[in-house]
Amino acid sequence: MDVDAASFARAVLDWYRRYGRHDLPWQGQNAYRVWLSEIMLQQTQVATVIPYYRAFVKRFPTLKTLAEASVDEVLQQWQGLGYYARARNLHKAARLIRDRHRGRFPRKFEQVAALPGVGRSTAGAILSFAAGQRWPILDGNVKRVLARCFRVAGWYGRSDTMKQLWYLAESITPEQNAAEFNQGMMDIGSMLCVKSSPKCEACPLKKICLSYHHHSQAQYPQKKPGKARPHRRTLMLLHRCDYRILLWRRPPSGIWGGLWSLPEVDNEAAIPLWQQSFLQTARAPQKVQPDVIRHQFTHYSLDISLAIIELDSLPSRIADTDNYAWVDPADLASRGLPTPVRKLLSSLARAPGTDPG
Ligand code: ADE
Repeated sequence: MDVDAASFARAVLDWYRRYGRHDLPWQGQNAYRVWLSEIMLQQTQVATVIPYYRAFVKRFPTLKTLAEASVDEVLQQWQGLGYYARARNLHKAARLIRDRHRGRFPRKFEQVAALPGVGRSTAGAILSFAAGQRWPILDGNVKRVLARCFRVAGWYGRSDTMKQLWYLAESITPEQNAAEFNQGMMDIGSMLCVKSSPKCEACPLKKICLSYHHHSQAQYPQKKPGKARPHRRTLMLLHRCDYRILLWRRPPSGIWGGLWSLPEVDNEAAIPLWQQSFLQTARAPQKVQPDVIRHQFTHYSLDISLAIIELDSLPSRIADTDNYAWVDPADLASRGLPTPVRKLLSSLARAPGTDPG
C-alpha cells in the first residue's frame, strides 16, 4: 500500500493543534496516571472516565499507594466503571512494577506491553503520551479511521486484516510528535470519523480518504460476516380432494406453533407410510415440486418442497380429527396459517393447471 505518510501525519497534526482535545485531565501527567487513564478508557467513553479518573488519583495518587492498597479497595474505587478485570489487572500490575521495576513505571515497550491488562495499542499510547516515544496505536477509533481511509478489507477478527491495520498504523506514525499524532488520530476517530454519519466535510483526511472518494464510508470497517444459517429441508404434502385440501394443525410449541399448515414428511419415500398412518390409504403424488420456498428463520433456513396428491374420494377416516381438517381453500382466510404456507397455497390457486376443478 502506497501511503504518503508525511502528508498524512501533517494533516492529522495540523488538525489536532487547532481542533483536538488538549485539556483531558491525564494529559501531561506522569506515566502512572497516563497508564491509569488508558486502562479506564478501554471500552469506556472519555466523558464517563473523567470523574472516575479524578476520584481514583485522589484516592491513589501514586503507583506506590495503589500497590499498597488491597484489591478490594481498588475494586471499590472502580465501582460503576464496569469491566472489573481491568481494576484487578491494574492492581496486579502496580505490585509487579513495585516488585520488579523498583516502583518505577517501565519505559521499555516490551516491559509495558507485558503488564497485565496492557496490550500492544495501550502500551504504545502510554509510552507515546508519557514518554514521547514513537509507537503506533490501534484502538477502536484508530482502527475505524484507518479501515475507512485505506479501505481495508476484512473484519477485525481476521489476523490478515489486523496485520494490515498495524502495518498502516506503523507506517503513518511520524518520527516526531507521536503523542500529538496519536491523540489526533483518537480524536478524529471519536469526533469526526464516527460509526454512523461521519463528519467527512470537517475531516483533515478527506483528500486522502479512499472511502470518502468512493462514497463507501458505510462499508468500512467491514463487519464480521454472518454465519451461514444451517439449511433444513422438509416436504409438505398437499392432499386435494373434491375442492378441499388437507390441513394439519401444528403442535403448540416449536415453529409456527398452533398454526394450520400442511402435513410434513422428511422426503418422498416417507409419503406412503404417512398416508397409511393418517389416512389409511396410499396414493403416490402426481407432482413433486422441489424447493418451492426458502424460508429464513432466525437460526436456520428451511427449504420447503411440495408434493401434490390428488385423491378420488375423501378418506372415510382420519387418525387425528382434532388436528387435521379438509378445508375449502376459500375458507383459508379464517384460519391462522404461516405466511409462507399461505403464500404457497394462494400461488397454487392462481397457477394455471393446478386448480383442482
Ligand atoms: N481512548 C483511549 N485513549 C484515549 C485518549 N488518550 N484520549 C481519548 N480517547 C482515548
